[in-house]
Amino acid sequence: MRRTMIGLLVVAVVSTSGAEEKGPAKEAVDRTREKVKMLDDAYKLAVVSITKNYVELQSEAPAAIVAKEVFEAMHKKGWHSSRLIDATGKPKKKENVAKTDFEKKAVAKMQSGETWYEEVTVHDGKPVLRAATVVPSVMKQCAVCHGGKEGRLLGVITYELPIQ
Ligand code: HEC
Repeated sequence: MRRTMIGLLVVAVVSTSGAEEKGPAKEAVDRTREKVKMLDDAYKLAVVSITKNYVELQSEAPAAIVAKEVFEAMHKKGWHSSRLIDATGKPKKKENVAKTDFEKKAVAKMQSGETWYEEVTVHDGKPVLRAATVVPSVMKQCAVCHGGKEGRLLGVITYELPIQ
């Protein structure tokens, strides 16, 4: 008896949510989230590798500058938009402060210990996934320029990808 009731309940929930579903399909959001995770790993692994291998040269162009250039190029190619923003209150560069509501919310979430924050929304009439990931001071070289303890939260990377 109990099992039948649970069965009925599940059917009811699935059918109502199906009927009211107006946003993008869950599968499409999941696929987009996977893309963000792949990009996020690629960018962070590159930044760590640059920091490890080109320490002296970094006073000229720290990995953050390379990351920002890559973000701009990816945006120009129409793939996605991204921003590297500060979460310490003392950015190396003023333009890196959180500006939009999403960025401010993302920074607040990461400061409270979350490692991921996302919103499904609409941009220019098209569904997009906005996501944010943490940028901790992952190695001692980060602290050389940014100060503080290794491991502390330095920033956030935000992503906006079309949901397709
Ligand atoms: C050689 C010094 C140097 C090193 C080493 C360095 N950074 Fe930075 N970082 C900078 C500078 C300079 C900027 C500002 C770049 C810009 O926006 O033009 C910056 C910007 C940032 C920002 C954006 C917020 C802000 O403060 O402006 C984050 C987040 C960040 N770095 C994280 C890291 C991490 C993580 C590491 C270690 C993997 C690291 N940095 C290593 C110099 C450094």
